[in-house]
Parts: sequence; C-alpha cells; structure tokens
Amino acid sequence: MSPFHLTRTLPEDATEAALRADVLHGLTATPKTLPPKWFYDAHGSELFEKITELPEYYPTRAEREILVSRAADIAAATGARTLVELGSGSSDKTRHLLDAFGGLRLYVPVDVSESALTQAGRALVAERPGLSVHALIADFTARLELPDTPGPRLLVFLGGTIGNLLPAERAAFLSSVRALLAPGDALLLGTDLVKDEEVLVRAYDDAAGVTAAFNRNVLAVVNRELGADFEPGAFDHVALWDAEREWIEMRLRSRTEQTVKIPGLDLAVEFAAGEELRTEVSAKFRQEGVWAELAAAGLRPAHWWTDGEGRFALSLSVVP
Ligand code: SAH
Ligand code: TRP
Repeated sequence: MSPFHLTRTLPEDATEAALRADVLHGLTATPKTLPPKWFYDAHGSELFEKITELPEYYPTRAEREILVSRAADIAAATGARTLVELGSGSSDKTRHLLDAFGGLRLYVPVDVSESALTQAGRALVAERPGLSVHALIADFTARLELPDTPGPRLLVFLGGTIGNLLPAERAAFLSSVRALLAPGDALLLGTDLVKDEEVLVRAYDDAAGVTAAFNRNVLAVVNRELGADFEPGAFDHVALWDAEREWIEMRLRSRTEQTVKIPGLDLAVEFAAGEELRTEVSAKFRQEGVWAELAAAGLRPAHWWTDGEGRFALSLSVVP
C-alpha cells in the first residue's frame, strides 16, 4: 500500500445534505448563524494559511514556539506509536512533533478539507521515508471512527480550534475524544489564552483584510454549493470581543436591506440593513477552565506549557 492513503468517511452527498441542513437552520434562525466548518473549501484553506502568516495573528507563532521547545518532552511523556491529529490543515506545526518522535510510523490527519489533507499528506510522505499517512476526510464534531492503529496513541488538536466550538459542543467533543482513546493514550490540546482585548481583536481583523476575505468566503461556498446569490461585498467583516463569555465573535454585517435567494433550498432570506450573521466564535481560555473541562470529560491533565509571552497554551492529558 502506498504510504499516503485518503479515506472519505462521509459520502459527498451526505456532506451536501449536512450543508443544506446547516444553512437552512442557521439562516432561518434569529439571530442568523452559519457553522464554521463550511469556511474550509480549497480557497478557504488557502486563506487560512495566509492568516497564520499575518503579523497580527499571533496564535500560530506562539503555538509553534511551544511545540519547538516541548516536542521532546511530549514524545518522552507519551511514547506514542501513532499520531492522530484533528483539524490538521497544513500539518505544518505537526512536523515538530514528527521530528521528535523518532520511531513513529503512522500519522492520521483528520480534516473536512480534502485539499488540505492531500497537499499535506503527499508532502509529508515525500519528506519522510518510513512514515505512512492515513488521512481521513471527516467531521470531528460527528461520530468519529479511527482506523485500528498501533497504540499508544497521541491525539493532537492544535490551533486553538477547540475554541471554535460552543461550550456545550466542547463538552460533547471532549467526551467523544475520551471515548476514542484507551488507557495510556494521550491528548495534546492547543488553547489560545485570554489577553488584552486590542491584541485579540486585531488578530481577527487584520489590516490587510485577509481575515475579512476568509469570513466572506463562507458566502461563496453557499453560492457555489446551493446556487445562492450572496454578494460577499455587500457584507462587512466584524470581529468583537465578548468579555463575559471570553470569546471573539466573527460576524458578517449586511450593509443594506437585501434579499438573498438560495434556490438549492427553495429559500429567500431577508437581511435588514446592519443585520449581522454570526459565522464563528473563537473562545479564549484560562488554565483553570481548561483543566476543569478536561477532567469533566474523564481525562487527566498532566502538563501545561505556554509560550514566553503567555499568549497560548498546550496541555497534555492522559487517559487514566
Ligand atoms: N491545525 C491547523 C489548522 C487550524 S484551522 C493549525 O493549527 O494551523 C482549523 C482546521 O480544522 C482547518 O483545517 C479546517 O478545515 C478543520 N476543521 C474545521 N471544522 C472541522 C470539522 N468540524 N471537522 C473536521 N475538520 C474541521
Ligand atoms: N481556529 C482559528 C482561530 O480561532 C480559526 C480562525 C482564525 C478564524 N481566524 C479566523 C475563523 C477568522 C473565522 C474567521 O483562531
């Protein structure tokens, strides 16, 4: 078998049905919402990679700094033989872990973005003789089934992506992660931390407008997949800090009163001038909160590492 192997756990028509259900539900709700996983078509994945290089977007650099300094500790603490990564994207930072795990033979990246998985997987096997990559196109918020791989396993979830889930979704997600793991396996979780509001808002509203383009891309996805006539330029990108819930909220604000037709759903959606559609939250964390959520899911937090400026944290939990 070739060292790069791609499995689609959801048939394409099921993905289509999920998009239809999400768009119908989200755009007929008050306030209107769309779930974030639909950002990541091939163009969205490219835009996200550009975000990670922006001067304002510190999470990628901060998390990389921790990985570089702690990868050897992580390898020693887990002794993992299989590395599973959820929401792996470009797998770029993961290279620091792969370097530290000398004998690791199998990497299982899981993502909804087929383009990201294919690019990352092919590059990794070309770079690393002896490594097999078994990529899974799957939704990590749905029931996940992992291939039967040698243990112990280390499951990694980087980028602060857990913050894109709402609190109840986070609890369900962590429980399902716990259920995938066996005693002796471990979870490495990246969480962005609460900090100065101005720094946070700039990270999600950059001067070059890349994040704005990324946010509007979800409208282009709905246009392409469901034949809708969203005019992305008719919506402003909004990022604001919710101090009570400690999350950044991304919205698209309709510049004018307008009606958007979605023939694939036989739906017309009215927007008032100034009406906002919520596209994503990005929660920021504190150590006490992260540890409580991990413990509630039956995981035992063992390490907490931050970057030098205390912006971002990686936690390592074990399965008791
Ligand atoms: N881990 C990378 C990418 C983070 S961006 C990093 O740290 O830079 C979030 C990634 O999660 C994207 O690659 C996106 O395609 C993927 N993703 C988002 N929602 C998902 C879902 N519900 N199921 C699987 N993958 C998802
Ligand atoms: N996981 C990333 C984060 O919360 C995703 C992200 C970064 C994002 N910038 C964004 C999502 C802008 C939507 C819009 O940091």
